[in-house]
Amino acid sequence: MTVLVAYASKHGSTAEVAEGITDALVDRHVAVELLAATDVRDVGRYDAVIVGSAVYYGRWLAAAHGLLVQHRQELLAKPVWVFSVGRIPQRPEIDIAAPQVVWLLATSGAREHQSFAGRLTPAGLDWRERSAVRVVRAPYGDYLDWPQIVAWAEGIADELVASR
Ligand SMILES: Cc1cc2nc3c(=O)[nH]c(=O)nc-3n(C[C@H](O)[C@H](O)[C@H](O)COP(=O)(O)O)c2cc1C
Repeated sequence: MTVLVAYASKHGSTAEVAEGITDALVDRHVAVELLAATDVRDVGRYDAVIVGSAVYYGRWLAAAHGLLVQHRQELLAKPVWVFSVGRIPQRPEIDIAAPQVVWLLATSGAREHQSFAGRLTPAGLDWRERSAVRVVRAPYGDYLDWPQIVAWAEGIADELVASR
């Protein structure tokens, strides 16, 4: 059994979450291919698919969004999980938009959508991004919750192993 973990990330934190999920699955003896969403050509050869994206302005990045659209028919026939990285704990109202979650679940047929807190650091942000952060008064910080991320991946591994 091979699982595809695909991600879209602008400033690196979602890529790290995807790596963490991959490590947790491998620790549970699940074979994984980890790819940037832009590098995914075909999903047919995977037994299950996990797709995640950073959230900007309430939405997934285009690469991850496009992956779900492009491979929709095949994804609907497989076990799929989706995750978003963004949430800033002090500003719970800044999260992925509810209609976007509905769309993600309907388009991919995912068993679950999980939202993870992200990382917001000024380094690497352009002036537009910095002013957007200032406007919503989101505090900079690293909010990645590794025990939560690993526990989510372990739950998926357990489901996959049980269905072997
Ligand atoms: C300009 C900007 C807009 C953002 N908009 C949102 C948002 O609408 N909702 C949210 O939950 N997080 C938002 N975030 C937080 C990011 O999703 C978070 O920093 C995430 O960890 C970034 O992932 P990446 O490092 O993979 O690009 C925003 C961050 C920036 C810099």
